[in-house]
Amino acid sequence: MEAVKWNGDSVTILDQRLLPLKEVYNTYKNYTDVAYAIKSMETRGAPAIGITAGMGIALAAKTITAKSLEEFKEEMEKVLNLFASTRPTAVNLFWTINRMRSLILSARDLDVIKSALETEAIKILEEDIAANKQMGKNGARFLDDGDIVMTHCNAGALATGGYGTALGVIRAAIEEGKQIEVFACETRPYLQGARLTTWELLKDNIPVTLITDNMSGYFMKNGTIKKIIVGADRIARNGDVANKIGTYSHSVLAKEHGIPFLVAAPISTLDPDTPTGDDIVIEERSVDEVAYIGNVQIAPEGIKIKNPSFDVTPAKNITAIITERGVIEKPEGKGIIELF
Ligand code: MRU
Repeated sequence: MEAVKWNGDSVTILDQRLLPLKEVYNTYKNYTDVAYAIKSMETRGAPAIGITAGMGIALAAKTITAKSLEEFKEEMEKVLNLFASTRPTAVNLFWTINRMRSLILSARDLDVIKSALETEAIKILEEDIAANKQMGKNGARFLDDGDIVMTHCNAGALATGGYGTALGVIRAAIEEGKQIEVFACETRPYLQGARLTTWELLKDNIPVTLITDNMSGYFMKNGTIKKIIVGADRIARNGDVANKIGTYSHSVLAKEHGIPFLVAAPISTLDPDTPTGDDIVIEERSVDEVAYIGNVQIAPEGIKIKNPSFDVTPAKNITAIITERGVIEKPEGKGIIELF
């Protein structure tokens, strides 16, 4: 399953807003549509956001009209800013933008830079898939045969170039011959767990059980859940992890019950420029995501609503951060610097 695909002159995106009821792929020839697909969460998940932005930027380079290299650089800076404004929390977006910007700034030839940006976008996708496979190999040892592993949100193939981060570690453990069952938290309000994680795991015949977010403590206390593994949107220098809202609560419960709490993320999610979790910008999304489930209104008209899309799990609650470059066990007090 491919969340996003480069076609040379267009980008194809699996519309994740419609899953699991409809599997619809939209093809865009205009980079502004690609930016909007990120903003509107047609595609989502930190690595997939970065990959899609890379393709959108490559598409812009092919389609904008510029008479000179200088004009091209000016126009491309506007394009980069458009992509930067789509979603604030996932650092992979800015990591891609910085990669593309440094190529643009050092460009000396219009045709050469256009094809270099296309090559870079493809490289970002391919690197991500390879990183996920390696992360799986590095992290599989944390999961034991027979484990029930809980995950939150969707950190799978749908959220990446393929294979997934948290779900990639689960896939790798299964490929090693271990029997693993997944408990997927529904992930209110946008329901990435209920709609996407279950859909993707069912497609791969990986046993999965859906629970609501507020059931996690119950299943940790009664011994059902043996491990927890999640992805990340941004990991601060001290090892604090921003991930989908609700992750922090699970980490506190995991600590209380002595359950390993694992985070799997590629190097592109590590942000050495952000000192701690307190410095991470948390996206606030539309109140309608809370007031409605699908088209059904579930709260009184005009009620005050909050909708922070992410929270921060402190490094002290994390058993290990698994990356393609290595694993940091007990990141509290160590941070991520040793991976650079
Ligand atoms: O709002 P979303 O769906 O983009 O949030 C996604 C998450 O929080 C994921 O857990 C995270 O991006 C890691 S995906 C490999």
